[in-house]
Amino acid sequence: MSSEASPTELLRELHVQFIVGLDKRKDEFEYWASEHLRLNGVYWGLTALDLMNRKDELAKEDVIDFVLSCQQDNGGFGGMTDHDAHLLYTLSAIQILATLDAIDRLDVEKVVEFVKSLSRPDGSFAGDEWGEVDTRFTYCALSCLSLLNRLDAVDVKKTVEYIDSCRNFDGGYGSVPGAESHAGQIFCCVGALAIVNSLHLVDADQLGWWLAERQLKNGGLNGRPEKLEDVCYSWWVISALAILDRTHWINKQKLTEFILSSQDTETGGIADRPGDYPDVFHTLFGVAGLSLLGYEGLKAVDPRYCMPRYVIERIIG
Ligand code: FPP
Ligand code: ZN
Repeated sequence: MSSEASPTELLRELHVQFIVGLDKRKDEFEYWASEHLRLNGVYWGLTALDLMNRKDELAKEDVIDFVLSCQQDNGGFGGMTDHDAHLLYTLSAIQILATLDAIDRLDVEKVVEFVKSLSRPDGSFAGDEWGEVDTRFTYCALSCLSLLNRLDAVDVKKTVEYIDSCRNFDGGYGSVPGAESHAGQIFCCVGALAIVNSLHLVDADQLGWWLAERQLKNGGLNGRPEKLEDVCYSWWVISALAILDRTHWINKQKLTEFILSSQDTETGGIADRPGDYPDVFHTLFGVAGLSLLGYEGLKAVDPRYCMPRYVIERIIG
């Protein structure tokens, strides 16, 4: 946390040091407490670094070896070596390998089998063998298969129908049919529909309005009505607005200032809101949000995949 005046520029060098330093803090409690998130953390850190043009700060071969060590016998990836496989970590693994141009190091068929094994007859996806269903997992499944060029492995039509059944009266989407609209789930549903070219099912004006209403007086965005602003929602909301071609429906200048004011001027990293402790999750979504807002000197991010656009162009065209 920092007591200095609000920064008005992106503190790139500090953020690079913050991300690179994460792996060296093995003696700190937070490191151990977040052990199960490690593969996600590597994706967040690597993507933020790449958007800031500093991908090479992480040792590529070490990262690839770590990712491959997380693959389990069923083909999916756990958060760490020896942890159970889940779609959330499987997506991070593929995103990391894609960014490092190392998909060829992967046993793709095994991953595809894992993703397929989690699809259900109604078009939904479970996150792992224990069966929790959520539109987050639908997104993970479609993003994974798309990055592996294997969308043919599942029934995309049925999956799209399921996503459509999660659409609410306000134009938004929830975690399962009937669940309230939430910006994180909206990113997942709109992103997934965009990945499989089915955006015609979105009421872009109605949903765009709901998303634009997430901006509060301080410029930050919340994820649902009556909630606090949070830097990660800069991403969940503005990525969906970008996919719908409506980022001009919010005040971009004020959102940019809000994200910049959430930076920690002492340790580096970005927090959920000004004055809070930074973490690598909010650092990625702050940087990716700034990229979508057109902040100078950052690589372009693809709003559907939350990955650098050049990587998606290399893989999908
Ligand atoms: C809010 O979570 C966010 C979501 C529900 C969306 C999460 C999306 C994924 C896991 C898909 C993969 C993401 C990327 C970027 C590739 P929260 O638990 O913080 O919600 P709360 O603010 O309501 O507590
Ligand atoms: Zn947050």
